[in-house]
Parts: sequence; structure tokens; C-alpha cells
Amino acid sequence: MTLISGPQVAEKVLAECQRDITELKARGVTPGLAVVLVGDDPASRAYVRSKDKKCRDLGLHSVKLELPATTSQAELLEVVAKLNADPAIHGILVQSPPPKHIDEAAIVRAIDPAKDVDGFHPVNVAKLALEDPTGFVPCTPLGCQRLLIEAGIETKGAHAVVIGRSMIVGKPMALLLMAKGPGGDATVTVAHSRTRDLGAITRQADIIIAAIGRPHFLKAEHVKEGAVVIDVGINRVEAPETEKGYKLVGDVAFDEVAPKCRAITPVPGGVGPMTIAMLMANTVKACKQSLP
Ligand code: GUN
Repeated sequence: MTLISGPQVAEKVLAECQRDITELKARGVTPGLAVVLVGDDPASRAYVRSKDKKCRDLGLHSVKLELPATTSQAELLEVVAKLNADPAIHGILVQSPPPKHIDEAAIVRAIDPAKDVDGFHPVNVAKLALEDPTGFVPCTPLGCQRLLIEAGIETKGAHAVVIGRSMIVGKPMALLLMAKGPGGDATVTVAHSRTRDLGAITRQADIIIAAIGRPHFLKAEHVKEGAVVIDVGINRVEAPETEKGYKLVGDVAFDEVAPKCRAITPVPGGVGPMTIAMLMANTVKACKQSLP
């Protein structure tokens, strides 16, 4: 069984970013990312803080906007419009989920698609479906695909089962795996909470992408011998014995599933660091594409 290391692959992606950033700076341009957080959800705050730190480590221009939970739709649209017009900003990310009174789809549509480094704008969703390489692909599925490529997992002709149909992970993951080229060319099945007899489907999978959002959901009985499992889950579960009182676990019951696998990602230490690395890569790409 191979343990696929997220931090190791993320390091490689970040080194590529670093090279590109040095080149861009030599041409007088510094890639800039703006991360907008509305409200004070603790998990979101932690994500936003680590994105900001990673930008600074790499020498990217980073703008972190923390807005109160009472921010109105109009005020948030105003913030997005300013960032769209700011030439120092190449990437814009509005942390999801926003407070309930915010119409998230409308905010996403207001972001300039050329700065939509999350890949959530309808233009970028369409570009992914069209296999147009100028589009932006959501960071988490892009990171999962990169993990498969770097681990030498052949996706061509493989049966990949994606569990989860979200716009952030499941849907774009399925599109990436079925696209032509490296990390693609797979036969893809998308399963979700309404799927009948999930186990009968996942047991056919050569590759399973678990993006369900339920702790330790995928069990040994769901997985065939020799499968590759990518665990996208980041679930907070109570752990009174720890300092924080909680710990992070994946969607996969790692201890029982891992022995059956050819390769698997742990949580933590798997997909998590890849999401941020791909965000940096998307920001560098947005900057490059903005140049004449
Ligand atoms: N919340 C959880 N993951 C993401 C992500 O990739 N982008 C944004 N904007 N919000 C998220």
C-alpha cells in the first residue's frame, strides 16, 4: 500500500509557482490574490488565514478582507467590483459558505471570470466541460487529479467513482477525470446521497474519490482489493483528549480501508495542502493570462 503524500506533492506545485513568480517579478508583475471572508465561522477563518500566509511565503501580493457577518449583498458586490477593477489583483476568492442572507450564486457571477481562481463562475464551469485550458478549475478536484498523476496512478480506461456531487468537488472532479489527457480518460460514475446500493458501485471502482462530508463514511466493505482512494473529507469530530477538543478526520475509515488499497491519501496530510497549492497555481495562471 502506498501512502500518497499531499504535503510532498504540494511542495512540488509550490516550487513551480515560485519559479513562475520569480519570472513574473522580473517582468515587473507580482501576482495578487484577494481572499474575502464574510462572518466569523472558525473553520473558514482558519482556511483564509492559511491561504494568506501561503501567499506571503511565496511572495505573492495578498489581500485578506474580513467583513462582518452583517455585510449586505450590495456591500459585498461593491467589494467584488472594486477587486475586479484593481490591476494589482489577479485572483479573487470569496470564502464559501457565506452567511445565509447572501446570495452566493450572484456573488460568484459578479466576479470577473478571468480572476475567478476558484473556478466557480459559470464561464469557468463551461470551460471545464468544454476542456478549454484557459479556464479555471476548482482547486480541490484539481489537486486530487494532480495527486493521482504524481503518484503514477493510470486513470486512462480506469473506472473512477466520485462520491459527492457538489459544485466545489464532485461535479468538477467528474469532468476532470473524463476529460482527455493525463489524469483523465477515465470511465466515471458519480454517486451521491440518493444513490441506491452505493457499495455495489464503489466495489467496481479502480479509483474512488470520497467527497461526501461525513466522517469515516467509506468502509472496507465498500472498496475492492487494489483500489486507489482519494479522501477529500475534512470533518471536525469531537476529541476531548486533544488540546483543541476536536480533530480532523476524512470521509474514509482509513484504518480498515488502507490495507485493501494500492494507494490512499491520509487525513490530514492528503488533499488539504493540495487545495491551497492549486489556489496559488491558479493565481499565477490568472496573472500570466492577464499579460498582453
Ligand atoms: N470553502 C471550502 N472550500 C472552498 C474553496 O475551495 N473555495 C472557496 N471559495 N470556499 C471554500
